[in-house]
Amino acid sequence: MPNRDSPIGVLDSGVGGLSVLREIRSQLPHEHLLYVADSKHAPWGDKAVEEIRRRARTIADFLLGQDAKAIVIASNTGTAAAAETLRTTLPVPVIAMEPAVKPAAAATKTGVIGVLVTVATSESDRFRSLLERFGSHATVITQAAPGLVERVEAGDLFGARTRELVERYTRPFVEGGADTIVLGSTHYPFLRPLIADVVGDHVTLIDTGAAVARQVQRVLQTSNLRNDSGRPGSFRIWTSGDLATSQPVIQKLWGISVEVSPFSN
Ligand code: DGL
Repeated sequence: MPNRDSPIGVLDSGVGGLSVLREIRSQLPHEHLLYVADSKHAPWGDKAVEEIRRRARTIADFLLGQDAKAIVIASNTGTAAAAETLRTTLPVPVIAMEPAVKPAAAATKTGVIGVLVTVATSESDRFRSLLERFGSHATVITQAAPGLVERVEAGDLFGARTRELVERYTRPFVEGGADTIVLGSTHYPFLRPLIADVVGDHVTLIDTGAAVARQVQRVLQTSNLRNDSGRPGSFRIWTSGDLATSQPVIQKLWGISVEVSPFSN
């Protein structure tokens, strides 16, 4: 049975969820963290719902096997496909996420927001219902961005190919007068400097990493699972991708040296 000292399990299709993991680490420094990057199967955003669900389940089961006391789906795409199933079947709390349409609709001054998401997220019922609930407070321009997650997986945050995609996908936002852009995949916060450079500083970019970390904190508190040892937490990272390729990218995005283990499920 997991207890307060057990780790939190975090998962994503690849390295994107590290943008959530860094917020969890900064808000909950005493928690032990486990992270699985499913880079071999990235992007999830181009896959069928059933397949994403299967991958999320396989990884969640692995994390439970590592004694995880809670599972964080650090993926908008993973949430749209698998949150409901995981919530109803896993024996621990599941924290999920959605694109920040609500805060963006509250923040916009022009009344127009842009939402950058994966194809699977854009086609999901969950996203449709999110737009129905909060989309009426603003004009919402949704743009799916195939190919962009792969640039982050390759660690290419500023290159010409990445810039070209960012320019293409943000053009409808700029032309439509959006002053707020939702970074609706956990991979996109790593492109924040490039996106800001392309759309200009007057446009606000919103992601949900910090909000997810606050939610993790709340859930652990109410479940009496908060680690209150006062000692610094550890972290371990696995990837299903090729280690030689993945390790340097993870290192680059995580910012400090970290050993990455192979995940072969
Ligand atoms: N990083 C994930 C998300 O938040 C998945 C992206 C993908 O693999 O397509 O949507």
